[in-house]
Amino acid sequence: MKIKTLSLILFATMLIAACSSSPNGADTSVPIVEQQTATVVNSNQENAAGSSDDSSMATEVSFSQDIFPVIQQFALPAHGQQQKGGVSLASYEDIMQHVVPGDPAASELYKRLTGDGVPVMPPSGKLPDGTIQLFYDWIAQGAKNN
Ligand code: HEM
Repeated sequence: MKIKTLSLILFATMLIAACSSSPNGADTSVPIVEQQTATVVNSNQENAAGSSDDSSMATEVSFSQDIFPVIQQFALPAHGQQQKGGVSLASYEDIMQHVVPGDPAASELYKRLTGDGVPVMPPSGKLPDGTIQLFYDWIAQGAKNN
């Protein structure tokens, strides 16, 4: 009887030990794999989102709709017929005399808008950052006559 009871207790203990340890072992190893996979997937998604963010930041800027209206409003009073400083910005061709397509930092037009080493234009004060960003993107995208 004692032996039977003891072996029952032993069996029950082993059973409990087996039940409580092996699922835990499985639980800890499986989620790690799952987490790693999820992390990889997530970082890929982040990369994909990052590059799509970049391309959305670089949504195509239109010369006729985004750039020229700003020139008309802020630059043409001085750089239209008057050609202050000998500079005309009255047409796409005129504007391109001051633009290096694909290279905003090398473009006089962009330098003037940011005041990068030259007097800022318009002289009354910088245009809003978002507007200057449009010029940056437009030049970076090749300064198309679009
Ligand atoms: C290639 C780029 C540009 C160059 C080289 C340039 C150069 C000049 C120069 C030399 C003047 C005469 C400054 C004076 O009379 O004191 C001037 C005036 C002016 N510029 Fe520009 N500019 C450029 C682009 C722009 C742009 C993009 C704008 C506006 C968005 C602008 C707006 C003006 C205005 C409003 C004046 C008249 C200031 C006044 O008479 O009170 N310019 N610019």
